[in-house]
Amino acid sequence: MTRIAHDGVLVVGAGLAGLSAALAAAPRKVLLLTDAPLNHGCSSAWAQGGMAAALTEGDTPEQHAADTIAAGAGLVDAAMALRLAQEGPAAVRALATLGAPFDMTPEGGFAQSLEAAHARARVARVKGDQAGAAIMQAVTIAVLAAPHIEVRTGHRLRGLLQDAAGRVRGVIAETNGRAVEITAAATILATGGIGGLYAVTTTPAELKGEGLGLAALAGARIADPEFVQFHPTAIDIGRDPAPLATEALRGEGAVLVNGQGERFMARYHPQAELAPRDIVARAIHAERQAGRGAFLDARQAVGAHFPEEFPAVFAACLSGGVDPRVELIPVAPACHYHMGGIATDADGRSSLAGLYAAGECAATGVHGANRLASNSLLEAAVFGARAGRAAAAEADPRTQPTVRVSAPDLPAEPLAQLRQAMSRDAGVVRSAEGLRRLLAELDAFEAIYGLAAPLVAARLVADCALARTESRGGHFRTDATAQQPPRRTFVTWADLPGSRALRYAAE
Ligand code: SIN
Repeated sequence: MTRIAHDGVLVVGAGLAGLSAALAAAPRKVLLLTDAPLNHGCSSAWAQGGMAAALTEGDTPEQHAADTIAAGAGLVDAAMALRLAQEGPAAVRALATLGAPFDMTPEGGFAQSLEAAHARARVARVKGDQAGAAIMQAVTIAVLAAPHIEVRTGHRLRGLLQDAAGRVRGVIAETNGRAVEITAAATILATGGIGGLYAVTTTPAELKGEGLGLAALAGARIADPEFVQFHPTAIDIGRDPAPLATEALRGEGAVLVNGQGERFMARYHPQAELAPRDIVARAIHAERQAGRGAFLDARQAVGAHFPEEFPAVFAACLSGGVDPRVELIPVAPACHYHMGGIATDADGRSSLAGLYAAGECAATGVHGANRLASNSLLEAAVFGARAGRAAAAEADPRTQPTVRVSAPDLPAEPLAQLRQAMSRDAGVVRSAEGLRRLLAELDAFEAIYGLAAPLVAARLVADCALARTESRGGHFRTDATAQQPPRRTFVTWADLPGSRALRYAAE
C-alpha cells in the first residue's frame, strides 16, 4: 500500500463544488483527487439551465429564497436558503470574472431565463443550454493555474481514514488498480449524487453515491436521503445516461403533449408546463404508464432557432434521429438530483470532525423535498467555497489514522439489477410494498457482495422512503398521498432498521 501524507486540504471530486472548494482554500495547499479527467464524470459540466440568482432590477434575494422555500415543500432550512440567495449574485459575478461567458443584455446586465417554480425570470444562462460546460471550463482553467492546487486524476475513492476519536484523517483511493492511503489535515467530499443508482438518469452513470455511502459507514449524519428529484424531460432515445431537455425550453413556451396530441399538463396543475418539477415528472410518468406517451413540442417556441439557442439539446435529439425543429421530442422522467446527502452546516462541516461535504453529496437543507430549478450550480459554488474556507482554517494534521472504512466494489451485473430495482421501487412513484421488495433485494445483494457503497446509498434512500409515510416534494407514495406534519430526516447508518438487521444476521 502506497502512503502519502498531505499537510493541507484534500478535496475528492472535481465538479463545481469541488473546484470551488479547492480555489477557496487558498493559500492552504490543496490536493484534489478525481477519477475521471477534469470536466468529465461530473454533473456540473452537463447542467443546461444555469445559475439562479437575484441579479435583475426588482428581484431580491428574499424573493429567490421564498421561491426556494416554496419549491422545497415545507422542508427547506429557511436561513440556509436566504444565505444561498444572498450570496448568489456575488457568486455569479465571481464566475463571470473568472471567464464564464454568461449571456448579457444589450444594457450590460445578465440575461435571465424563466424556469419552473421561479416567480420571475432569474436564471443566468450561457447560450441557451451551455451554462454548466462553460462555467466548468472557466473554473477548471482557474484551478489549473492556481499554485496552491495539485490535481491528481485517475484516483477513485475507496475508503475513509479516521483516528481513534473518529476524526476523518484522509482517504483510501484506488489508482491503476493499486490502493493508496492519503492522510490530510482536512477532507472535503464533493463526490456528486446518486444518478448511477437508477436505470434512467440525466447524470454521469459513474455517480453512484460512493461519498455518501462511505461517509455513512464512517458514522456521519445523513439528512433527507429519501428525497430524489426526477427531471421530467429526459430525452427518451434509449441512451444511458439520458440527455436532458432543459426546463428553459418550457420557459420559452415549449409544451408537453401526449401521443394523442393532447396538452395534458393543465389536467395536473394550474401552472401547467411550469408547475413544480415533481408534479410535471409525475404527470409525464402517468401519461406514459397509461400508454399515451409524452413528448415535448418545441416546434413553435424554438423551431428553426434550435441550433443556436439550445445547441446541446439539438445535438442530443439529432443523435437519436429526432429533429426538434420539426418533430416532437419523446421525453421520460429521469433521476436528476439528490436533495439528501451528508448533513452539513453552512460551512460544509459534517457531523464528523475533519470531514466536510459540498455539492450534491451534501445536504445543507436548502433544497428540502424538491430542489428549485438552477439552484444546484449556485449551491455548489456558494457552499463549495464556504467548505473550502472552513476546511483550510480548521485543518489539523496532528492525529494519526487508526481506522480504515472501505467498501467492496459492486460488479456490473448486480449494479445493473440494482439500477432497475431503484427505478422501479424508489423512483417517481413509490409504495411500502415496492420499497420492501427493494430492501429485500438490497439484503440479498449485501449478503453476496458486502457493504458496497452504492448498496449503502441505495439502502439510505429506500429505508428512509419507507419510513416517510406521506407524499412530499420528490417523494410520492401511492399508499400515503397525504402530508404529515413537516419533519426532516436525520439518520446515521447505525439507525437504519435494514442496516441493523443485516448486522444482526451477520453476527
Ligand atoms: C434544467 O435545465 O432543466 C435543469 C436545471 C436544474 O436541474 O436546475
